[in-house]
Amino acid sequence: MKIELSHLEPFLGRDALKNAEKGIANAYQTIYNKTGAGNDFLGWVHLPSETDESLIADIEQTAKKLREKSELFVVVGIGGSYLGARAVIEALSGHFDALNGHKPFIVYAGHNMSEDYLKDLIALLDKKDYSLVVISKSGTTTEPAIAFRILKEHLINKYGEKEATSRIVAITDKAKGALKQLANVKGYKTYVVPDDVGGRFSVLTPVGLLPIAVAGIDIRQLIKGAVEIEKMCQANPTLNDNMVSQYAAVRQALYDMNKTNEIMVNYEPRLVYFSEWWKQLFGESHGKEHKGIFPASVTFSTDLHSMGQYIQDGLRNLFETVISVENSGHELRIPHEDEDLDQLNYIAGKRISEVNHKAELGTILAHEDGGVPNIRIVIPEVSAFTLGQLIYFFEMSCALSGYTLGVNPFDQPGVEAYKKNMFALLGKKGFEERTEALRKRLEA
Ligand code: PA5
Repeated sequence: MKIELSHLEPFLGRDALKNAEKGIANAYQTIYNKTGAGNDFLGWVHLPSETDESLIADIEQTAKKLREKSELFVVVGIGGSYLGARAVIEALSGHFDALNGHKPFIVYAGHNMSEDYLKDLIALLDKKDYSLVVISKSGTTTEPAIAFRILKEHLINKYGEKEATSRIVAITDKAKGALKQLANVKGYKTYVVPDDVGGRFSVLTPVGLLPIAVAGIDIRQLIKGAVEIEKMCQANPTLNDNMVSQYAAVRQALYDMNKTNEIMVNYEPRLVYFSEWWKQLFGESHGKEHKGIFPASVTFSTDLHSMGQYIQDGLRNLFETVISVENSGHELRIPHEDEDLDQLNYIAGKRISEVNHKAELGTILAHEDGGVPNIRIVIPEVSAFTLGQLIYFFEMSCALSGYTLGVNPFDQPGVEAYKKNMFALLGKKGFEERTEALRKRLEA
């Protein structure tokens, strides 16, 4: 993988990056020496290289058992407890696996509170053999707790208590939280979310590894890719040779120029959920104290026919980070037609990926002309290894960017605001004062 910054030249002078150099070097020190805000959440820094062989083997073993008896596998979790797994699974699955009878097919629950969604899921689960993993670090998050309560009952009704238990895995804190207590009482197989790894940095812990392994993906390759970038950062954090440092520096320089919105662009629909994972990582880590770049995402060329107009001509507070994939997994060429009624013979014989790459280059140049700086992150192909590289690349650059921005990248105090109101409106014990205040506010 590599980073390409040539399309930034019209926007950033050479000095912009030089100016950021010191800040990035300091941020590395803050991370490696654990001296910054949130320093008790740095367990992800050496996680890839320190992942125990026995843990990997155990996860593979559990995944094998679950795969053997499941047509469907349900991942119950929200935010950092599901997005990383979904990002990797969707990136490495066939686009139409759901309709191709691929087993086990992975479905998700506990990431919304839609009655219709859950009802539709249950109707599907009525007809399929399935098992599930419930993931919650705190063990008390409302959305997955509701979904798990419903699915647990469904599993027991379908298979009986004993078999249902063998079809449930819980991933949560080692000691605290309602889910941990429930798992102890019921005797579920459990994995631990390490204390010092926050949800959005947890994809390389069992939180991501177990569902990814159940999907049949090689978790060793995923970890190997992450280890490579972990080692690279440690060996040489300077701006010259380190793409992670360069990305963090460029983001800060663009933010200082009032480029407050970053759009992650992909040209492969399989990467849509990778963008979702990235949005959470950066949005929840940086959006604090009325600061931070707003992370958005698009899939091109699809969204060139919807959002393309805004990006080309709208408010000039944007920059783009393009994930560019050099090689497709398959080959498909545009056929020649003697009649050429659709006038496509000028590209007959070309691979679709070649046309896609020209769309990418043409778009980058057009957006550059339109005043939108572009960063390109290039991977040779979408694989477990390159996804592992990307995951660590973005985790470390997110931490660096957070510290150069001057926020604690590892907390999320703002997430509590909606929860408190929701609990008060639902009449949860302990929220009586807020319930009363909200009642008055709504009646006014
Ligand atoms: O990154 C985070 O910490 C959050 O997005 C959490 O992952 C999310 O809120 C789910 O929390 P939990 O795993 O405690 O259910």
